[in-house]
Amino acid sequence: MDQDSTPVLDAIEEIRQAGTYSFSLPGHRFGRGVDDRTAEVLSYGAFAADVMLAKSAVSDAEALYADAVGANQVIFTTCGSSISIHTAVLTLTGPGRKVLVDRNVHKSVVGSVILAGAEPVWLRPRWDYAREIAHPATAGDVAEALRRHADITAVVMITPTEYGTGADVGGVADLCHERGIPLLVDEAWGGHFGFHPDLPTAAVQAGADIAVQSLHKAAGGLCQASMMLVGGDLVDPVGLRLRLDLVTTTSPSPLMYGSIDGWRRHLALNGKALIDGALERADRIRRRLQQEERFTVIDESIHETEGVTEWDPLKLCVDVSKLGLTGYQVKEWLQSERRIAAQLGDARQVVCSLSYADDDAAIDRLAEAFQALAADPPAPDRPELAVPPLAELDLEQVMPPRDAFFGETEQVADPVGRVAAEMISPYPPGVPAILPGERFNQAVVAYLRAGKAAGMTIPDSSDPDLNTFRVVRNG
Ligand SMILES: Cc1ncc(COP(=O)(O)O)c(C=O)c1O
Repeated sequence: MDQDSTPVLDAIEEIRQAGTYSFSLPGHRFGRGVDDRTAEVLSYGAFAADVMLAKSAVSDAEALYADAVGANQVIFTTCGSSISIHTAVLTLTGPGRKVLVDRNVHKSVVGSVILAGAEPVWLRPRWDYAREIAHPATAGDVAEALRRHADITAVVMITPTEYGTGADVGGVADLCHERGIPLLVDEAWGGHFGFHPDLPTAAVQAGADIAVQSLHKAAGGLCQASMMLVGGDLVDPVGLRLRLDLVTTTSPSPLMYGSIDGWRRHLALNGKALIDGALERADRIRRRLQQEERFTVIDESIHETEGVTEWDPLKLCVDVSKLGLTGYQVKEWLQSERRIAAQLGDARQVVCSLSYADDDAAIDRLAEAFQALAADPPAPDRPELAVPPLAELDLEQVMPPRDAFFGETEQVADPVGRVAAEMISPYPPGVPAILPGERFNQAVVAYLRAGKAAGMTIPDSSDPDLNTFRVVRNG
């Protein structure tokens, strides 16, 4: 196929150039009605490209994308990967059906399980006790879970993690396919994988039946641009589109579609060179930061860690704890002192997401900021966050998530021993520390409250201050 072509971008242009006047939505009339203040910030061009009629070109753009990355089919979505994940989970499972779900998943997967009314069997991640982070479960872990629960009907995994570590998708896919069950991979952070041989293998090429990718994370789409990539023949693409229709908007944004179309063309034509450059710069900054002995920077040796089959070098993970600082404080310091926005801070690390768009100047600026930090670190301005022994954060699921979420609830100040009726997800990465139907223990309550005090962002708790928690009334 001609990867130089851009059906959606062409359609937007053609409709405008044909002199079409729209008495349909949107009311701003390709930007005519936009006031100067709005245009000053958002640009007239953004409104001029907001051409709903261009939707007709999306299926051609999807076919080009599938061709570029070796998928059977691709379906673009415009409400973020959360909606792609809802769609995919609603397609692969349903009420009362058992699904094996990575416990390290993003909250949207848990939301999908609640919506589907499925019965999750949780797959514990591989805890990395040295770094206090989680890596994907191994294929052996999946095999064991499938052996114990012969009635599992689908498997859902996240790879890569927010720290760039990836699962053995091929090995897990083989296990699933031996049993005739589908594998869904949340690959939200892997939108660039299909375009370069030295990046982790794209899930759909490794054997996943559905992979979900965000185009606005590591890739170059506008925020909310996402897609489902279909591999193999276990998933009915028509069923997938019908489920999407249940949960998504009826007015998808042409801007999202256009940005996906343009990104695919750019990477199909230039991706090798662009990502070569990004990998070279990532390697350079990693070596530079490793010269400072108080930084511990994840590098290719992470492959020796259990659960890590793949690794994305474009995730720059810097452990700053030897400076006596938390990742939360350093993330804030980078923002306030250097106007640098990092992707994530946690109890010990700061994670910067590098991309094809960074140039040498940007990478030097980041390296210099870290070096300035090491030369003159700020005084700790908050208590250290002691992460509890990680196994203590493995909570017991005592009620189906849907029953706990939709049942009778109450707010209590001391939830220990009670059954949660809400998700509480430190963000990023947005992995729920507790989810509906799990029983609160002392460790998780203390961790969340101390985390909040240390700078953890928790966007979804029923009580933003964590003075109270939502629990099942009689649970
Ligand atoms: C791994 C993962 N999956 C899914 C999502 C949801 O993506 P979106 O914000 O596009 O809805 C996120 C967002 O942070 C994520 O990190």
